[in-house]
Amino acid sequence: MRKIDESVFQWLGEQLAPPAPPDTSQIDTTWTPRLNPKQQVAFDSTARYVLCYGEKGSGKTRGLLDKLVRHAYENNNALCLIVVKQRSMATQGGSWDELIQEVLPTWRDGNRDRDGRFIDNGMGLAFSDVSFDANRNELVWVQNRFGGWSKITVISALHAEQLRARIRGYTPSIVLVDELTSCESKIYLTAIAAQVGRRRGISGPQQYLAACNPEGPSHWVYKVWWEEAFDDATARWDTDYEKHHIPIQENRHNLPPGYIENLEKLYKHDPVEADRMLRGVWVDRPSGDSLFRDVFSIGIHVRPLNSDGIPHRTERLCPIAGHPIIIGMDPGTVYNAYAFMQWLPPIAGVTPWETDMGWLVFDEVVLTKRKVFYHQITPVLMRFVSWWRSQVSGKLPQVWISDTSALNQFRPSAQTSESAYDVLEIERVYATYRERYGLEQIKIKPTPKFAGSKAVRVRLMSQLLTQNRIIISSSCVHARAMFLNLESEKQKPGEFDPDKAMTPKRSDHIHLFDAITYPIITSTLEPQKLLGVIDENTQTVVKSA
Ligand SMILES: Nc1ncnc2c1ncn2[C@@H]1O[C@H](COP(=O)(O)OP(=O)(O)OP(=O)(O)O)[C@@H](O)[C@H]1O
Ligand SMILES: [Mg+2]
Repeated sequence: MRKIDESVFQWLGEQLAPPAPPDTSQIDTTWTPRLNPKQQVAFDSTARYVLCYGEKGSGKTRGLLDKLVRHAYENNNALCLIVVKQRSMATQGGSWDELIQEVLPTWRDGNRDRDGRFIDNGMGLAFSDVSFDANRNELVWVQNRFGGWSKITVISALHAEQLRARIRGYTPSIVLVDELTSCESKIYLTAIAAQVGRRRGISGPQQYLAACNPEGPSHWVYKVWWEEAFDDATARWDTDYEKHHIPIQENRHNLPPGYIENLEKLYKHDPVEADRMLRGVWVDRPSGDSLFRDVFSIGIHVRPLNSDGIPHRTERLCPIAGHPIIIGMDPGTVYNAYAFMQWLPPIAGVTPWETDMGWLVFDEVVLTKRKVFYHQITPVLMRFVSWWRSQVSGKLPQVWISDTSALNQFRPSAQTSESAYDVLEIERVYATYRERYGLEQIKIKPTPKFAGSKAVRVRLMSQLLTQNRIIISSSCVHARAMFLNLESEKQKPGEFDPDKAMTPKRSDHIHLFDAITYPIITSTLEPQKLLGVIDENTQTVVKSA
């Protein structure tokens, strides 16, 4: 039998064993790392699952590394684990490098001012040279307040199966997953979280921390922290999940001169990436054929945004009293889309346009792939009108605009054995409910329609978006999805057909596109139709510019 060289074991033992007991006399327990305000909030959080997201270079990773070091110091025999998808994400200028070269030396030697000069003497925290654990992963020993050592180590896992296998060997007391949105699935939360919290002798919270740049709302990370953590039935957030936007504004002074300007240049022609990397907004990438990809931007066209630059969850835009509510309609049997809009002159502090007219989309009703009868949907629309009127002090006349072809669409009436035309049917249902909602009579007006009118509507919409003449309420999630995802007809390989480029492809989004653009094309060809309906008792005609 071949003999194994004993010195290998000795070497391994030295690598795995903690260094000689640290010197505790030099520790300044009053010292803390200098953090930016939002970094500090995340640093202080005791939630089980803490996500820090935000634009590039905002300090997400740095703040969470400080949290790891504090945990290592405050607990006896803590195991802090950094997880990344690819090794190079940690080592080549990534989180591990940042820990070894910046964070630990700061805890030992002190915070620095903007010119790199020390402003204090640090905590005096001792840490070892980098060695390797039994799995050959980088490891650093960090002094703890019990006169012993805690460990910080880093592992990488390219895919979920690898992660499952690798994480089994660890019972960390705190974990930082860096670049979480680069990880393919929720396993990077569940498999890791299942290992956290079992380490003995840890007194503080055992947390799962993650940092990432935003992706789209379709990403699993968004789903976990924004959707699954919110219970619709009780309207409550699960307090185990915390998400913190770490804004770049707070970290400018720590970045090299020209860093942000360079990023801006880099993303100039990519509004989606710019929304994510420069504004920290969660936005999906429209496909290459998306009609409005170059002209629509959440940062520009959606209001109100919260301080994170994200469409507000609870606040919304209101219609302006004295201007008609214009309801763009695309009724149908299983697809129904209605847009509540206003055609507004410039209003200081409200509209981004300062001359001429522009559009506000403030509410929407969209039902797709669901059979709905007009006696069901019409009262819903009427309730919207009367509710908005109750919210706004001042007059809100109403104008309903639909497609002329809808006038000719014959379909069985929902309630009687007679048949009716869609628009006529809606008017009939409206009339029967009118008094209940205290509404005046209406006549649905047809939008101009002609060969090529669809392409004209696409062009008009692109123009409005480019000139910042349209704003969409943050509550209109379907409209937002439409602007991001409506695609043009596919081109045949090798030939470019300009008509196809301006023709929206059939999809769930097209109905709301129609509903929003019927009033818009009407405004250019027959603007008189958009003046408010006269009701002698309650409404007056509103003159538009
Ligand atoms: N509180 C701080 N004190 C000193 N330097 C800081 C602080 N916060 C961040 N920095 C520095 O700012 C730079 C960017 O920070 P960090 O790498 O944490 O950003 P990030 O948000 O993780 O970026 P990315 O989106 O690229 O992952 C780093 O050089 C980091 O050292
Ligand atoms: Mg980072």
